Amino acid sequence: MRKGLFITLEGPEGGGKTTQARWLAEDLQAKGADVVLTREPGGTAVGNGVRSILLDSSPGSISPEAETLLYLAGRAQHAAEVLRPSLHAGRIVVCDRYTDSTLAYQGHARGLGVEPLIAMNDFATGGLRPGLTLLLDIPAEVGLERQREHNRMEAEGLDFHRKVREGFLLLAERWPERVKVVDASQPPGIVRSRLWDIVWGWIR
Ligand code: TMP
Repeated sequence: MRKGLFITLEGPEGGGKTTQARWLAEDLQAKGADVVLTREPGGTAVGNGVRSILLDSSPGSISPEAETLLYLAGRAQHAAEVLRPSLHAGRIVVCDRYTDSTLAYQGHARGLGVEPLIAMNDFATGGLRPGLTLLLDIPAEVGLERQREHNRMEAEGLDFHRKVREGFLLLAERWPERVKVVDASQPPGIVRSRLWDIVWGWIR
């Protein structure tokens, strides 16, 4: 099996990314892979601190620019402390959200612009981009209905979350080789096997 692979899971709220990321890590481990399962915001002590500022603050209390820089600060630390060393050691990294979330949420939905944020992602990560991205696509109304965790981002209105989804789909059009769209409104077991087919095809 190829080593040092970087796989991200992305998508709007309520697409089941966290469960699918865990299942994917398990499916890879069952094939003998050395897997690191991690997430953003989070993944390090700094990242977890940033996560609680970002998600536990009251709606409207963080400017779009400050929000972006906080996500990027968490990412910079995550890339330096976890992602690069793990990939360097030949491990497979499965990451629940990464750079595309910043492009869809802050770049597209908040309107800060995708192009400048591509450059800022590269600054934060030293140009570390995923090899494969699984986009768990779901309509905003369905995803929000399913979501159980209530945080500052989730509290944004339906129009915002529609723009987030649109932002993700534009990224898939832009980078079709890397970003694979999967219909996440299907039953979780079906989504799991669809993701596995994509990942296994890519790895081999
Ligand atoms: P989640 O980990 O439960 O999906 O929550 C993370 C929230 O943060 C989710 O609403 C998406 C949002 N987010 C951004 O807005 N920009 C980012 O760069 C990342 C990583 C997440």
